[in-house]
Amino acid sequence: MCGIVGYIGTEDAKEILLRGLEKLEYRGYDSAGIAVINDGGVSLFKEKGRIATLRDSVDENEQGTAGIGHTRWATHGAPSQVNAHPHQSNNDRYTIVHNGVIENYSQLRKEHLQNVELTSDTDTEIIVQLVEHFAKEGKSTEAAFRKTLSLLKGSYATALLDNEDPDTIYVGKNKSPLLVGLADGVNVVASDAMAMLQVTNEFVELMDEEVVIVKRDKVTIKTLDGLEVSRDSYIAELDASDIEKGTYPHYMLKEIDEQPYVIRNIITKYKDDNDTIKLDEDIREAVLDADRIYVIAAGTSYHAGLVGKQLIEKIANKPVETHIASEFLYNMPLLSEKPLFIFISQSGETADSRGVLVNIKELGHKSLTITNVPGSTLSREADYTLHTYAGPEIAVASTKAYTAQMAVLAILAVDTAHAGGVEMEFDPLQELAIVANAMETLTDQKESLEQVAREYLSVTRNCFFIGRAMDYHVCLEGALKLKEISYIQAEGFAGGELKHGTIALIEEGTPVIGLATQEHVNLSIRGNMKEVVSRGAYPCLISMEGFEDEGDAIVIPRVHEYLTPLVSVLPLQLISYYAALHRGCDVDKPRNLAKSVTVE
Ligand code: G6P
Repeated sequence: MCGIVGYIGTEDAKEILLRGLEKLEYRGYDSAGIAVINDGGVSLFKEKGRIATLRDSVDENEQGTAGIGHTRWATHGAPSQVNAHPHQSNNDRYTIVHNGVIENYSQLRKEHLQNVELTSDTDTEIIVQLVEHFAKEGKSTEAAFRKTLSLLKGSYATALLDNEDPDTIYVGKNKSPLLVGLADGVNVVASDAMAMLQVTNEFVELMDEEVVIVKRDKVTIKTLDGLEVSRDSYIAELDASDIEKGTYPHYMLKEIDEQPYVIRNIITKYKDDNDTIKLDEDIREAVLDADRIYVIAAGTSYHAGLVGKQLIEKIANKPVETHIASEFLYNMPLLSEKPLFIFISQSGETADSRGVLVNIKELGHKSLTITNVPGSTLSREADYTLHTYAGPEIAVASTKAYTAQMAVLAILAVDTAHAGGVEMEFDPLQELAIVANAMETLTDQKESLEQVAREYLSVTRNCFFIGRAMDYHVCLEGALKLKEISYIQAEGFAGGELKHGTIALIEEGTPVIGLATQEHVNLSIRGNMKEVVSRGAYPCLISMEGFEDEGDAIVIPRVHEYLTPLVSVLPLQLISYYAALHRGCDVDKPRNLAKSVTVE
């Protein structure tokens, strides 16, 4: 979703800002812009579409050494050059970029900006016009900025330039993430550390309702009331090479291939010297103590949560409900007496999940976040965090984060079972090692999976995925992957439910991908496949070694039945990848989607 960068130093700001925005492209955006400031004032460049278009529009002779930049994912106002950030106040003195949503923007407009003509349809413009309004009343820029932010309801991460002071960037945040990066005589601003690793890996994290006055040689953090705050910096444990594609044509393919290493990494991180599970005692107690677990997540993480429910219930014998984050608050179930909330989120920034976290904290309930980004909002604000150690995931379509989430959920389930005295023979660390090998076998079969994609999905309008039990949850994820990147209308269905309506959509040649990787439902899902074939479907069955049959399109290596989703999703990820390629889609940056959805 929207991204922010800022730079104040001694080098060519426009180049650093553009490179920073390119690093944020993966988050999804539909327009972009930069503003560069020097003694002569601010130069503004913004364009609808890709950063490459913006780059072409930037004046090569622009020499400023400070500036701000933005990638916008439209919420208020269509994607257009006018609505792209940065926005300027009417007298051009102030220039701003903003992530988030200002909920009370029309009220603020009525109260303070009745006579101000607005240029764009955005809520952001209100912020910059308010700063000008308060500055005109005689306030200093810093005071006008603080006053403005104190009036805003909603979420914001924002950076402001003042035409009359080319040596300062003012930043502020509430709910949306924002970091300030430190270097020698140079400071930067970024909504995601990755954007500014090109300059520094030392960052200061900002808390809600703080502002920062960023100069070349000094960074001052203040509350909205103007009180100074001191905070230590930290070194971001990110290697710039982790976010490079290397020789891969797409991040998605690289990340699919990384899955065996991610699983082995998780084994190492969660293993102690006795080869048993290593987990924080407080987390263990919190899970044991709960009478019911509520898993909250969105998108692919929600699908991992569906599998997580099965794992925790089957292995640890503890009741679990998995909920879509955006629905939970509006449709809250009756809670048990001692609930524990588990938030699953690759980015740790999803606004829908955060909304639930804020709410359940107010109710006094405990929370655990399972995330790929330990310093993220959901991680900071929950009581406990489990890290998925998948490394940065850049492609919008989530792959390695999903399998990593399920691996960590399996480890958590077994640890809970052990701590609760539940007897079992399932050793997750050993079984995950088998999973990693099986994943490798599948990533080595790219040619045959490309062939499946070509044969079934090159021209089709739609596609169905059917499965039962945990295979059904993987079908939901398989369908989501295909929709996200190839724009084929795809749906995942429970095999038994198909005949209650959906089967009406099966026509001659409709592709139906079936999963049969769970032995106890193997025969029944094969029966469901026969039902669709009799109505003309073009079937592709993915089965598991040990109960495969003649004619199965793909047979995946045998893994423990609890862990089949970690393996069966791989062919679906690869089939989606190749389908998108064959259809000429932009695999890593699918239309309309954002990697991290930071608005509700
Ligand atoms: C967006 C992404 C999805 C992702 C979902 C949840 O919609 O496009 O790929 O699954 O957000 O994100 P999270 O970071 O919370 O896992």
